[in-house]
Amino acid sequence: MGDSGVGSNPYYWDYLRLDDLLGAQRLESARHGRPAHDEMLFIVVHQVYELWFKQILWELDGVLAAMAEPRLDDDRMGQVVRRLQRIVAIQPLLMAQLDVIETMTPLDFLDFRGYLAPASGFQSLQFRLIENKLGISPQRRARIGGMPYTAVLREDHRELLERSAREPNLLSLVEGWLARTPFLRFGSFDFWQVYRRAVEEVLAEERAAIDRNPHLGDDARAEQLARHRAYGESFAVLFDRDAWEARRASGERRLSHDAFLAALLISLYRDAPAFQLPFSLLTALVDIDEGFTAWRQRHALMAFRMIGGRVGTGGTSGHRYLEAAAERHSVFRDLFALSGFLLPTSKLPDLPADVKAQLGFRYQTTTG
Ligand code: HEM
Repeated sequence: MGDSGVGSNPYYWDYLRLDDLLGAQRLESARHGRPAHDEMLFIVVHQVYELWFKQILWELDGVLAAMAEPRLDDDRMGQVVRRLQRIVAIQPLLMAQLDVIETMTPLDFLDFRGYLAPASGFQSLQFRLIENKLGISPQRRARIGGMPYTAVLREDHRELLERSAREPNLLSLVEGWLARTPFLRFGSFDFWQVYRRAVEEVLAEERAAIDRNPHLGDDARAEQLARHRAYGESFAVLFDRDAWEARRASGERRLSHDAFLAALLISLYRDAPAFQLPFSLLTALVDIDEGFTAWRQRHALMAFRMIGGRVGTGGTSGHRYLEAAAERHSVFRDLFALSGFLLPTSKLPDLPADVKAQLGFRYQTTTG
């Protein structure tokens, strides 16, 4: 680029459609004859967000197409991981823009806020598409006065969203891929029995440490022991497929029992060559979920700072709704919960040689 633009040679300005892009900032305050300086910032920041949302959707669509194939070999898996990691790299940029918008004071915002209603980020089609393609649970969506979140959207946007909610999403595709993993079956070696013994040993040690802790009074000790018992019970559910699936039916868990065990195995033996890419994939999913949750929390705080207890222009209770959404709209919570089932490396069951060979471990020979 940078050429003359003569003939069919691309010219920088035209290639990037800068007439369209840079001509797309129309101040509502100016249209009403009361131009507010900070409305330009407000528009530009939202537009930059929407551009990044577009890029995130582009990556997500590529990932969904690859994950929907019946076989995901290592080449494709590498590409999936890189695309997810690109989304992870974009997320700090989303966060950083809140710093920029916070250079606008609440008073400056009030100068033009009245002209925006009922428009709101709440109507961001692309944000909702990202949520649906990630696999947000429709049952867990924070309620807005009994109305569906699509109620405030244009008809064509509503249809697009409803369609996206019916299509396979990242959570369901990852769940299917995990449940298909061949590594859950080790022939005669019963991994989960060995793991269970290791868990019982670790739980007993932790309980003894609470019993011995000289800094705990009777009440604090009893409380810690009760919490530890509840933690132990979560392991019991891990070993009981029916109990697990009952929790899944109630919405408490979203991954199937098989899928969760596969994710746990991958996390426990993440350094095995066969698990390194799958582990990177699981890590990227947790990063993305954490990134959006952190953005929602920060956006809720920013909205509180800007409008206090006012209701939102989109018709919600404002920052209270945003806090509830941040709490409820996480998709990959089960993957976060995996950490509660990890064991210290020293307690990890040693895998038999044939299993290690299956996972691609190679032994280096030593000399001398
Ligand atoms: C002065 C700055 C901002 C304020 C005061 C603000 C306030 C709000 C409020 C109160 C809501 C709740 C819905 C409603 O009733 O309107 C909301 C939702 C939302 N806003 Fe903002 N916002 C601001 C900037 C932004 C920016 C820069 C973005 C970037 C795209 C954004 C994206 C969103 C999204 C995606 C939602 C829906 C969140 C959800 O339902 O989980 N907002 N905003």
